[in-house]
Order: sequence, then C-alpha cells, then structure tokens
Amino acid sequence: MDARERLRLYLEQRRDLGESELVLDSMSVEDVMRAIGAISTGGASPRAGAGGWREVLAAEAASEARTTTGTTEIVTDSVVVEVPGQESLATIAAEVEGCRLCPLYKTANRGVPGAGNPRARLVCIGEGPGASEDEQGLPFVGAAGQLLTKILAAVNLSRDEVFITNVVKHRPPGNRNPEPNEIEACTPYLVRQLDLIQPKVIVALGTFAAQTLLNTKTPIGKLRGDVHRYHGIPVVVTYHPAALLRNPAWKRPTWEDVQLARRILDSATGA
Ligand code: URA
Repeated sequence: MDARERLRLYLEQRRDLGESELVLDSMSVEDVMRAIGAISTGGASPRAGAGGWREVLAAEAASEARTTTGTTEIVTDSVVVEVPGQESLATIAAEVEGCRLCPLYKTANRGVPGAGNPRARLVCIGEGPGASEDEQGLPFVGAAGQLLTKILAAVNLSRDEVFITNVVKHRPPGNRNPEPNEIEACTPYLVRQLDLIQPKVIVALGTFAAQTLLNTKTPIGKLRGDVHRYHGIPVVVTYHPAALLRNPAWKRPTWEDVQLARRILDSATGA
C-alpha cells in the first residue's frame, strides 16, 4: 500500500469516526482527499472496495503477519488502526448503534457514541444527546455544543484534538434527565472509551457526568474546583454548557475550571 493510499484510509477512518475537519488547516477531510488525488473532484470516492478502509484493514488482518501482531500499524508510528474485531472506538460505536440495553433506543433516532480524536489528551463528557445530536449522530452539535466549542477554543483546544462523549448514548425523550437504570446500562461504553483513549485529563460537564464518573451523589457545586481522579486520570468538574446558556453567571467559574484542565494538560505533557 503506498503512502497516498494509507493517508486516504486514515482520513476515511477519521471521517467515519465523526471528524469533518483537520486541525491545522481547517480543510475538510473531503478537501484533503481531493487535494491528494485520493478522490475525484466529482466527489465520488474510489474506495478500495465497498467497505473502504474497513475492508482493507480486514484483509490485512487476515494475513498471518498482521494477526500475530494483534494491531495493525499504518501510515507512521503515530497512527494506529485497530484490527476489526478487536476493541476500538469504532467497535464501541457500532455496539452503541445496536444497543438495546435500556429503553432509550425506542424513542431515539440513533445512537450518539461520541466523536473526536482517538488519542485525545482531553476528553469531555456530557449528559446525553439532545435533539440535534440525535438527528446527526454526533455529540454536542446544538446550541450547547457551539458554546462548548468556544469554551475549548478559549484554552486553545479544537474539537478535533479532544474526544467528546456522553454518559448516555441515546437521547432521553424530551431531553429529560437520564434515569439511574439508563445510566447504569450505558456506563460500560464510557468506561471502555476512556480505557482505550487514556486521556491526560477528563472534563465532566454537569452533574450527571461528574456524579457518574466519580460515583458520588455530591452536588456539582461542591465537586468543582478540586481535581478528582478516575482510575488515576485527573477529572475536572464544571457546569454543563446548557446550564451556562441559562445562567451566564456560571461562565466565570467555568472559565476557571477549563483553565485548570488546561494546566493539568500542560503539566502532563511538559508544555
Ligand atoms: N448535551 C449533552 O449533555 N450532550 C450532548 O451531546 C448535547 C447536549
């Protein structure tokens, strides 16, 4: 496989994981693929087959050399693509899509597993998808999501750098709070996502994310301001962006919280 083909497969994978833009140049994935000649200007993608990067990786996984290593490394040592069938964010996303572990799937349009950088150093966790997220299958794309994008940008983080997900992966009807049985059924997906990503810091957005992650009933007002731990990973608790839209007085403490998260990130990476 030549470098261009590898790059095309990598970009396809990032797009399929919900990313639409690349960090440095704000070109869309489609634009870059077109620029490198991996797809035609007409837009049709000459995928390696109908299955695209999945099909190619499956073929690679079938070869003896690949299956013995367990993980297929493509592009460079900075990009690892998991072999289909092994645990990955994509397999979790597929499970979420077909999840019937609680009744939320009955009223939702689709699952919203989460999106962003599989190697994110910072993970944001919200409560559950709203109407826009339920339509698009992507987290935080409505009004609260736009505010979250700005909050991240304020500490010099783009959405492409982080991973964003929720406690429950299907929309609670009418945006009601998720029920304890729904949270309990869905939490294993979050646990698996965090286990794979191993971020340097987690930002819990709102009561449900904070209390679920920290396994506590302590109110958010008492949780924020301290650095908590989830399996050794620092957790910063802050207000949910939707709550900020209703209560602008919480913007200042939220700003302090995200700056705290930024400092943790910087010290973890020696910046
Ligand atoms: N609120 C959330 O908690 N999550 C979303 O994805 C959108 C809004």
